Amino acid sequence: MKTILELIGEQLISAFNECGYDEKYARVTVSNRPDLCEYQCSGAMAASKEYKKAPFIIASEVVAKLEGNQIFKNIECVNPGFINIILDEAYLGTYLEAMRSSEAFGYKSVKKPQTVMIDFGGANAAKPLHVGHLRSAVIGESVKRIEKFVGNHVISDVHLGDWGLQMGLIIEELRDRKPELVYFDESFSGEYPLEPPFTISELEQIYPAASTKSKENPEFKERAHTTTLKLQNSDPAFTAVWKHIMNVSKVDLIKNYSNLNVTFDLWKGESDAQPYIPDMVQDFIDRGFAYESQGAMVIDISLDTDSNELPPCIVRKTDGASLYATSDLATIIEREKLYSPDKYIYIADKRQELHFTQVFRVAKKVGLVKETTELTFLGFGTMNGKDGKPFKTRSGGVMRLENLIADINEAVYNKIIENRTVEDSEAKDTAKIVGLAALKYGDLSNQAAKDYAFDIDRFTSFEGNTGPYILYTIVRIKSILTKYIENGGSIKALKIATPEGSKEKALMLSLTKMSDVITVAEEEKAPHKLCQFIYDVSDAFNGFYHDTKILVEEDADKQKGYISLITLTKSVLECCIDLLGIEAPDRM
Ligand code: ARG
Repeated sequence: MKTILELIGEQLISAFNECGYDEKYARVTVSNRPDLCEYQCSGAMAASKEYKKAPFIIASEVVAKLEGNQIFKNIECVNPGFINIILDEAYLGTYLEAMRSSEAFGYKSVKKPQTVMIDFGGANAAKPLHVGHLRSAVIGESVKRIEKFVGNHVISDVHLGDWGLQMGLIIEELRDRKPELVYFDESFSGEYPLEPPFTISELEQIYPAASTKSKENPEFKERAHTTTLKLQNSDPAFTAVWKHIMNVSKVDLIKNYSNLNVTFDLWKGESDAQPYIPDMVQDFIDRGFAYESQGAMVIDISLDTDSNELPPCIVRKTDGASLYATSDLATIIEREKLYSPDKYIYIADKRQELHFTQVFRVAKKVGLVKETTELTFLGFGTMNGKDGKPFKTRSGGVMRLENLIADINEAVYNKIIENRTVEDSEAKDTAKIVGLAALKYGDLSNQAAKDYAFDIDRFTSFEGNTGPYILYTIVRIKSILTKYIENGGSIKALKIATPEGSKEKALMLSLTKMSDVITVAEEEKAPHKLCQFIYDVSDAFNGFYHDTKILVEEDADKQKGYISLITLTKSVLECCIDLLGIEAPDRM
């Protein structure tokens, strides 16, 4: 379906053409003065320079061509040459009815679906998920859903950090705790056991203990380094332990991510890239891209257009070890081989910006990807506490994601219990759904690149631009529809009517924006724009609701029109919160 802006635009284009003006001046936007009009075109201002005529004259000529056009209730020219537009109500009703009865609310899927690789999550195996990983998961899940909605073929990969020093630390800590294990017996030559040598709760204690020990004990740290290197060179015993670490930790990560309603198609990690590294680096050297600098192998990436000179990308350290960038480059080789994506989206902390710039430039320079492949980094800011400092537990430690979720669920639970008398078990289930929405919406409603303050009171409030407010709106519509049916109303043969009241029209106008908003949210990877739309629709619905007696309306046709409109509102809101990775309960 064409969007309202396109439809109005077409009318203006033909009027500009008929008057002999270039159609590039016919651009229509949503009005920034809703008190005066709904849409506007200010092209006459720019056209006046080209045609050396007063803008008011140009605008008046164009408006004269459009008077009586059935799309407009009113179209007029105001000083100094703006065209102000008010949409015809019957036209709007018909448009919304078409939207209601079309698939995907009339959203036009992309003409040529692209294969999109989304790299998000990025948890580090065997380390507990902390709030820093929350943003990647929440934003990534939403970007993934938006990409799918517009019609792209999406592959998501959690890209675990599974190859770093933490592995050596864990193995050495395990040695200190259980030296009798066969993995540490150098004379052992049999098959290594299939049973893991630790449970998840042991593993969770092992990493922090090892990490503390390595700070206090240089000998331990050295051992961990050596062990990491041995693991990376395929030592059989350490590889066997590593597999156990990965299996145990993956089960736990899958559980944690699924509690967040976050899923991945691929559970690959840095380790999967390792086999590609030796040949890749050799190829960079052979083709003259990599050269030696202070013992390391580097590739220049700076461009004349850079305002500051960027450091070269190191692909091999002096000691022969590879780095984070090496691993990301090798991962691209594997992804090209297996999926040849048209577009890559990486979602990580914005402090990794330089890293991704280096990786992207090398990938293009050496031809790991096609000239046309889009490489995008979506860097997000820090989640702070109310004090503006990075979020911490009350005792000052790193907050674990599980605890954060528990806190927010409890806050929501208390509100639900305060407000009404539902069964405790229902209140608990509802609190989980609403709590997650509060958390996700609180994050997504901010522009990703910005830091934001995690404010549990604000996020869980049922008023304002919050997750609970949005869910409450949906629940309210559900409850009106239930009552309507209980009173004998039928939801068959729904049809949206011509709006009568201003609040009804305002709700309809807000709904028409859906397609444009999704298009922008996809292009800019900006779930916050979708949040703004969801909030505007919710607000418009609540305005309409307070203004209109829906259930006691005596005119059955009129009532049917209202029911149709709120049914569409509910579906649009549900579809859009789904794109954020949020769902609504039936009651709150
Ligand atoms: N594991 C990394 C971290 O915790 C994030 C990985 C992001 N993705 C990537 N391909 N580098 O910082």
